[in-house]
Amino acid sequence: MPQPSLRIDIDRLMARIDALAGVGSIEGGGVCRLALTEEDKTGRDLVVSLMRHLGLDVSIDRIGNVVGVRPGMEDGAPVMTGSHLDTVRTGGRYDGALGVLAGLEVVATLNDAGIDTRRSLAVAFFTNEEGARFAPDMMGSMVHQGHLPLEQALETTGLDQTTVREDLAKIGYLGHAPCGSVRAHSFVELHVEQGPVLERDDITIGAVEGVQGISWTEISIIGESNHAGTTPMSARKDAGYAAVCIARFARRLAEQMEGNQVATVGRLQLSPDVINVIPGRASLTIDLRNTDAGLLRRAEQRLHSYVRRIGKREDVYVAHRSLARYDPVVFAPSVIAMVERQATALGLSVRRLPSGAGHDAQAFAPNCPTGMIFVPSVGGVSHNVKEHTAPRDIEAGANVLLNVLLELAG
Ligand code: GLV
Ligand code: MN
Ligand code: MN
Repeated sequence: MPQPSLRIDIDRLMARIDALAGVGSIEGGGVCRLALTEEDKTGRDLVVSLMRHLGLDVSIDRIGNVVGVRPGMEDGAPVMTGSHLDTVRTGGRYDGALGVLAGLEVVATLNDAGIDTRRSLAVAFFTNEEGARFAPDMMGSMVHQGHLPLEQALETTGLDQTTVREDLAKIGYLGHAPCGSVRAHSFVELHVEQGPVLERDDITIGAVEGVQGISWTEISIIGESNHAGTTPMSARKDAGYAAVCIARFARRLAEQMEGNQVATVGRLQLSPDVINVIPGRASLTIDLRNTDAGLLRRAEQRLHSYVRRIGKREDVYVAHRSLARYDPVVFAPSVIAMVERQATALGLSVRRLPSGAGHDAQAFAPNCPTGMIFVPSVGGVSHNVKEHTAPRDIEAGANVLLNVLLELAG
């Protein structure tokens, strides 16, 4: 039954976003809530208590995903929404948090209006979406949807040399529910765009067509540490120089391939990191993304062959290992069309666009009808403390989410 006048309460939603942003807040208005840290625990506890307050049936699975179910009138798999609570080290207050809290705002709105849905509704948050402390990203949702073995995820060692299992246990989120025990009938995630397209085109709602492919590689280089003044240029085994050559190659690769290819060196570490010492060791990460699976593979091949060449040329040992690898994902045409239709029915401008960022929704796409709703990011800025979305756009996105979930849940 359509509920044309039903609307979410934007003041309540903004208050909850503000409260969560207070957990791990950092200078400049941003948030540092790295996966499985004390801050993550406090954020999780806050949201779990909100789930319980809203009457949801809360379960925690063995990779620490949390799902809150609002029973429907019929048995069967719930229509699911949600996102993640972890952030990058220099994160904003909306990336992930919006999708979880907007899902709970939909539940609150239905509770207030006394509306029962035919299918159950579920709001979830997934462990370690960002991959900033443990790779791969989208870890919890990938395990949940059967794309990543649970044991492999639990045994993953992170930047602080602890494992996912240890840190989940430490924060009290090593749950007992089998992963994926709450199956989804369908999945829809609301997220900030994190890019410039919607703002540039003055559009309020993005109907997300899919997610581009993602390839993360860590490259470790071993050369020889020596004196910066006495070692002739021809005798050097400079791991730092080799790392910088690889970084420059990645940039030029993306420029030469044009189209949608992007390349980023997000981490670069030199050792011993001293002004007058040739670096004996270096490590860097390369993030390659493309909406085209074949082009992404070609970019990876070209990078790998350059890495081999630079090792020989600079007389350094180079090793690389994949940290994350996802092919491009296409969302369900029926859900994309539903987002467009519901946005239009609410009088909102809408356009289709691909996602440049990875999202939990992509784990669901092969298994059930899946889609995403984007709202504009001011200045296209994200993974930055300045990440911002206007409250009226958040309200619009949450109302589209409400109506899409209602249509799916019947
Ligand atoms: C996750 O936010 C990613 O796209 O790296
Ligand atoms: Mn996100
Ligand atoms: Mn993110």
